[in-house]
Amino acid sequence: MLLFFLFLLLLLVATVLCSFPHLNPSIAASTSHSSTEARMEASKSEIQAWEYNSTDENEKLAHKYHPNRAIPLSHVHGLGILTWKLDVDNWESDTELKNIRSDRGYKYSEVITVSREAMVDFDARVKGFFKEHMHSQEESRLILDGSGYWDIRDYDDKWIRFYVQKGDLVVLPPGMYHRFTLDTNDYIKALLLFTENPVRTQHQRSDDSAARKLYVEKYLLQQRVKAQ
Ligand SMILES: *[C@@H]1O[C@H](CO)[C@@H](O)[C@H](O)[C@H]1NC(C)=O
Ligand SMILES: [Fe+2]
Repeated sequence: MLLFFLFLLLLLVATVLCSFPHLNPSIAASTSHSSTEARMEASKSEIQAWEYNSTDENEKLAHKYHPNRAIPLSHVHGLGILTWKLDVDNWESDTELKNIRSDRGYKYSEVITVSREAMVDFDARVKGFFKEHMHSQEESRLILDGSGYWDIRDYDDKWIRFYVQKGDLVVLPPGMYHRFTLDTNDYIKALLLFTENPVRTQHQRSDDSAARKLYVEKYLLQQRVKAQ
């Protein structure tokens, strides 16, 4: 009799565990593992990120605290950013880039050079990139040459800055508030990747847009719970 009740109890516990995947991390992790994540792990991206020290100095400077407050790349990934390191000297024939493009459905691309020589309205364009905004599509950039900084909003709305240079492929999720600036070298060359015909619209912060709501649900709520 006692054995029978113990058996029933065990059965009940097992059923509850299986119906709530978040109670059982091994189930949750194995079902969310995609080829994108596997490729990211294999490519060993080492992007540096830190808390942004807001001062009125030129935004093209690093804006680090003294001492620096480094942010682990895993935290940046937790906010929905994807990063890879690729060999871009022959990016047009690179098979890893081809695989990522096909995994993520990037059918369109174009090369952009941001420098004083390449752009008549250079200063205005660069100022424009640095206004906080978001997009309804992913922002996907492979840095072919040069360097720059992305600033992204943390779950508590603080700025996190990360540095990109030649070989970094970065994807920002739709609905993430961000801005971009060159560093003091004033030069970056990047491959822009799109799933559909290029959409370059920069939307102002707006908590009631569909892309923003999805982003908050998918990433920020989890991060906020973890931080409590
Ligand atoms: C922030 O940056 C400014 C300018 O470089 C520096 O003087 C200041 O000490 C930094 N703040 C902190 C708390 O490190
Ligand atoms: Fe953007």
